[in-house]
Amino acid sequence: MNVLVTGGAGYIGSHTCVELLENGCGVIVVDNLCNSSAGSLDRVQEITGQALKFYQGDVRDEKLLRKIFRENHIGCVIHFAGRKAVGESVEKPWEYYDNNLNATLTLTKVMEDAGVRNLIFSSSATVYAAANEMPLKETSATGCCTNPYGWTKYMTEQILSDIAFADKRWSMCLLRYFNPIGAHESGRIGEDPRGIPNNLMPYITQVAIGRREKLSVYGGDYPTPDGTGVRDYIHVVDLAKGHVAAVKYTTEHTGCEAFNLGTGTGYSVLDIVNTFAAVNQIPIPYQITARRPGDVAVCYADPAKSAEKLGWRAEKTLADMCRDSWRWQRRNPMGYGE
Ligand code: NAD
Ligand code: WQD
Repeated sequence: MNVLVTGGAGYIGSHTCVELLENGCGVIVVDNLCNSSAGSLDRVQEITGQALKFYQGDVRDEKLLRKIFRENHIGCVIHFAGRKAVGESVEKPWEYYDNNLNATLTLTKVMEDAGVRNLIFSSSATVYAAANEMPLKETSATGCCTNPYGWTKYMTEQILSDIAFADKRWSMCLLRYFNPIGAHESGRIGEDPRGIPNNLMPYITQVAIGRREKLSVYGGDYPTPDGTGVRDYIHVVDLAKGHVAAVKYTTEHTGCEAFNLGTGTGYSVLDIVNTFAAVNQIPIPYQITARRPGDVAVCYADPAKSAEKLGWRAEKTLADMCRDSWRWQRRNPMGYGE
């Protein structure tokens, strides 16, 4: 089956392209490269020894999308394309609502016209309300988002479930990712954030390579075993495999369903720092600073539904995640920019 991957040049998209190609799918990518480099797709082809097709352009460009559907026999779409920086979304809400919502509206309209109704959407644990008990189940309360980025994911989930409700031929999976880290074990593809990293692992790897002096640990007084925030970190290759399972699921079911993609285990910021330092033999200087506004103390998944219905489970360990993140950074000190 041919899969159209929007945002396929990005961090999670590029790893998913590898898994799709290795599982016998044809891959067509559309990406405007606003937060990525086409070099990632060259490396996907190098890793797999297989070719993919790339269209550089915006998912909001309806004419381009119609051309892509005309020129390719597409069976399923994985929709990664979107802006994802929480802080930036607070500064530039219009850009986030425009990009993330209009891309989905344009895409689903063109899919409908092309008669392609299998869709996998990149959602996020951020859609869950902060007041929930842990672990988070797909039935836990959603909403009360704390930033425009989170609202775009929440609203997109609503839009997609309304579309699937209105026309029962649609088959959609809303994949709620927890905290993806790590990189492909080849060290050829990985996360390449622009500017100062917002997320923990890229910050740690940039400290390790000497691009940043030390890590600020945001808050040491949370009600957690060591006082630092706890998250459900998941290896990006496990996450990518979850998409292959979801592609299969959409071919066998209709409707719109949410799935947690997490490991079910929470680790603290200091667990990550210490594991990274131990497995890679590199000390990570850090200082505990004030809490970051909007952060919760603890967030982790109940991944049971994904195991039962998608037949998918995360397999890699925290040590794997730390080792692979470092291999990518060490071999590509400036990311794809080299
Ligand atoms: P990324 O920025 O590396 O990848 C997104 C890709 O989409 C980039 O290549 C970017 O150039 C492209 N893009 C953005 N807007 C576009 C548009 N209008 N048209 C065409 N291409 C466009 O991010 P990622 O970490 O790979 O995340 C992929 C998806 O997963 C995003 O939707 C993100 O919100 C979601 N997500 C990510 C995380 C995470 O922690 N990384 C967690 C939960 C959900
Ligand atoms: C993890 C932990 C921080 C950086 C974000 C988005 C979420 C989802 C995943 C897209 C927290 C601490 C971090 C640093 C630190 N993305 N930290 N120093 O906030 O759980 O989730 O990415 O959907 O929507 O909000 O991830 O990696 O930013 O933080 O101490 O320099 O690391 O406080 O406890 P987060 P993160």
